[in-house]
Amino acid sequence: MSLASMTAVMCSIIGYIGDKDVAQILIDGLERLEYRGYDSAGIAGLKGDSFTILKRLGRVKNLSDAVEQSMNFGNSGIGHTRWATHGGVSEKNAHPHVSFGGIFTLVHNGVVENYESIKTFLDERGYEFYSDTDTEVLVNLIEYHYRKEQDGGDKFLRSVQKALLHVRGTYGIAVLCKYNICEIVVARKSSPLLIGIGENEMFIASDACAIAAHTKNVVYLNDGELALLTKSDFSITTMKNEKIDAVRCKLDWRMEDVSLGEYEHFMLKEIYEQPLSLANAMRGRFSDDLSTAKFGGLQLSPRELRQIDRIVFCACGTAWHACLVAEYLIERYARIPVEVEYASEFRYRNAPLEKNTLVFIISQSGETLDSFAAMQEAKRKGYMTLAITNVIGSTIARESDGGIYQHSGPEIGVASTKAFTAQLCIVAMLALLLGRLRDMSFDEGTSFVQALVNLPQKISQVLDSGDRIRAIAEKYAHHEHMLFLGRQLMFPIALEGALKLKEISYIHSEGYPAAEMKHGPIALISDKCPCVFLATQSDILQKTISNIQEVRARGARVLVVSSEGNEIPRKCADDLIVIPDTHAALQPILTTIPLQLFAYYIAKARGCEIDKPRNLAKSVTVE
Ligand code: AGP
Repeated sequence: MSLASMTAVMCSIIGYIGDKDVAQILIDGLERLEYRGYDSAGIAGLKGDSFTILKRLGRVKNLSDAVEQSMNFGNSGIGHTRWATHGGVSEKNAHPHVSFGGIFTLVHNGVVENYESIKTFLDERGYEFYSDTDTEVLVNLIEYHYRKEQDGGDKFLRSVQKALLHVRGTYGIAVLCKYNICEIVVARKSSPLLIGIGENEMFIASDACAIAAHTKNVVYLNDGELALLTKSDFSITTMKNEKIDAVRCKLDWRMEDVSLGEYEHFMLKEIYEQPLSLANAMRGRFSDDLSTAKFGGLQLSPRELRQIDRIVFCACGTAWHACLVAEYLIERYARIPVEVEYASEFRYRNAPLEKNTLVFIISQSGETLDSFAAMQEAKRKGYMTLAITNVIGSTIARESDGGIYQHSGPEIGVASTKAFTAQLCIVAMLALLLGRLRDMSFDEGTSFVQALVNLPQKISQVLDSGDRIRAIAEKYAHHEHMLFLGRQLMFPIALEGALKLKEISYIHSEGYPAAEMKHGPIALISDKCPCVFLATQSDILQKTISNIQEVRARGARVLVVSSEGNEIPRKCADDLIVIPDTHAALQPILTTIPLQLFAYYIAKARGCEIDKPRNLAKSVTVE
């Protein structure tokens, strides 16, 4: 079989070994992980010396519906949800995969880059393949080494170690061996994996939310590490079998953080959590005199912070929009030049960086591969790299030189909401900190801090108008195109409003700087392409109003988001959402909230799968 259509995967892994029925534990875990990828799902259990394997296309629900009373998966097993990057979505490509001789089954998150040469090697030795995946090549390579290893001792672990020494690429894997019913072997390289330690039971997961209900005691595997798990113990080694001391951590998650509660969707729940998530982002981060911000994790003294000549921000997607806001704020309040890069471009661009440049990565998950690679590229060149991340213990958080945790709590909805506003809050506080180290006065600092302190209350006020925003959204739900327009600090928010809408409602939407519209996009304007204008900044209000009039004159329906105190002429807006006024640096945060609700209610009116939009996955761990 040709691997021309190799399927690489960006997915989730769960595993269990203990005394309980493994199927239910695996399926519960997969349901919690489904937001990471949902093209297909599968589980394998080991009982006696035989595997029971079940796979289904589509949602985990299809898999759980297929489990029958008569199936006995035993007390150790592995499971997987898959998000295919190339190649078909099919049951044969779904994980777990079994080796040709039936000795091993394996789940894999990542890409085996040299699968072709390994496959040729195995082909020549009589191995046959049934799927189009690189993962199947890997499980067979393990079997090949197993057959060559001396019996006894840790033969299972040794075979995985030997196989992985030949693998180029990325992986988080969990492996079962039919001759070792009491063991699971896991390994990681550039793909997250953690071990959950229970009472006479062990868990494996690619994301803590899958096991938070069972245990709070975890160990995060580092790149290049393997672990051998039994139900009562585990040991960690390198690929060359050197012993590693495990660093145990405590998860600070509560079950309600990963449950829907009274909400219909995680996205809505997370939108409404923003007063709290913003308060958490600020907690303990103001100076005693309330005139500036402080971040313990930056690992830089005030003197070192003053020496920074330039900051480069790198990220993907929504986090990249937060970087753009950082550019406006840090340049405005601290007068430090800032550049913003797509992580996927930066990693290959070989950008010349000046001395005293600080590189900041923003990533909710802390696992986005391009962002991680951008960070590695900056580190390779010797630059200090800092990270703003939400997930404690994530790869980017651990590999950076320092950073700032968002404390947003788990974000399950694929469309980022509360994590984005927490990022905006942190970059505003960073601008405050850097500004106060330069030219910002004490009075400017205290009014900035006061505005931050008042922010959660103002967010609650915006959220109180949810029903009104819903009514407005329903009027726009039938459109297939929409433009989001804003100037200066509202430009990144226009981009974010457009991204939120397209992600979850599949309406084609774009964000532009409002004045740029005349240079091309205005050709799209008609009664079929409504425009959302972000007119919250009083200093440039008249300029924005002129732009509104330009599209009104061409027949577009217009929704204006404005702030209290801004006069919007009646003839300018078909619909108007007024939000509280706030400090200029915090307007991006408040303006984002109605756009999140607008996107959410449009997607709901169109009957879309809001928390798991088509083709998307929560964290993108492949290129
Ligand atoms: C946001 O709604 C997206 N789903 C996506 O753009 C996301 O922000 C991007 O993939 C970056 O993720 P990260 O913050 O976890 O690195």
